[in-house]
Amino acid sequence: MQYRKLGRTGLKVSQISLGTMAFGRWIDEKASTAVLDQALDVGINVIDTADVYGRGMDVGDTNLLGESEAILGNILKGRRNDILLATKVKAPVGKGVNDSGLSRYHIHRAIDNSLRRLKTDHIDLYQVHGFDPETPFEETLGALDELVKQGKIRYLGCSNFAAWQLAKAHGISALHKLNRFESVQPEYSLITRDIEQELIPYVQTDNVGVIAYSPLGRGILTGKYRKGEEPEAGSRLAAGEKRLELLLKTNPTYELIEKIQPMAAARGWTLAQFALAWILSHSFISSAILGASKPEHITDAIRFADQRLTQEELDRIDEISRNLKLIR
Ligand SMILES: NC(=O)c1ccc[n+]([C@@H]2O[C@H](COP(=O)([O-])OP(=O)(O)OC[C@H]3O[C@@H](n4cnc5c(N)ncnc54)[C@H](OP(=O)(O)O)[C@@H]3O)[C@@H](O)[C@H]2O)c1
Repeated sequence: MQYRKLGRTGLKVSQISLGTMAFGRWIDEKASTAVLDQALDVGINVIDTADVYGRGMDVGDTNLLGESEAILGNILKGRRNDILLATKVKAPVGKGVNDSGLSRYHIHRAIDNSLRRLKTDHIDLYQVHGFDPETPFEETLGALDELVKQGKIRYLGCSNFAAWQLAKAHGISALHKLNRFESVQPEYSLITRDIEQELIPYVQTDNVGVIAYSPLGRGILTGKYRKGEEPEAGSRLAAGEKRLELLLKTNPTYELIEKIQPMAAARGWTLAQFALAWILSHSFISSAILGASKPEHITDAIRFADQRLTQEELDRIDEISRNLKLIR
């Protein structure tokens, strides 16, 4: 496993992180343990979760949220200090008007709930899950800064931010001498390249770490879904993941796969291995958060992750993506 610096910080993160959105949602504690064991075995040191991850995301029941953190709390026993634990706050975790968002009230309550479920006294990377237009950044960043000073958080990050939102937050942190967001977690893969337009040029000028989520397009870039065919049992499409359904409907995914597959085959790699190596060929990426529902997903996908694509391959992919209007 190779390690990269998280933006301007001194923190070294594995170039592949483990995402645990599946824990407690699509896989049980036993299967989650097998996935976590494998991740630690291959040298992954970043484990990403969120206060909201759990079965409730699919069935709309807020009592069934937080299961991913709860499972991690159980299965990280004795290994907490071997990993960097990242979680998130903002999405609704209850029906109350203050059960979501980035108010000082909700943040303080949410982190205490996360710490309790995770059975730990600190979060290494605490990320706001998205922009909250109803709360001033002064309030959010002030609350997060308090938690850093209390020792509950080591580093601050954000997720799903537009470039202007991150730039504004950084300006407010600088003005009030508050800890700033040192990383951003956007969706990024061969089929979702929107961040190249604004966010990436910004983070490069301000040395912000990028932890990319869904690098395999939620499974699409393994080639497991075929047009007009039923998804395999046990897959996330079969389980009805909404965002995955939307990606398949709205993006030219099948056309892209048809064009990229021969490039992967020319190297003797699977599509998933090629998709991951493509992400990691970009130096602005600190880490790509892989999702896995089986331990072999990890070993298989990361097999060639230490190898970089050639400039010729990167240019060819850009040309294909431009033709399919995935980039401008
Ligand atoms: N900040 C946010 O808003 C946000 C949003 C989404 C995700 N995330 C984070 O990013 C993490 C990763 O997201 P993701 O799960 O969508 O990432 P992904 O790596 O794009 O997709 C993972 C899925 O691909 C399939 N897969 C992976 N390796 C495979 C292999 N070798 N062979 C066959 N199939 C394989 C599995 O699907 P099946 O399980 O269907 O077999 C797996 O669940 C999440 O766990 C979460 O931590 C963050």
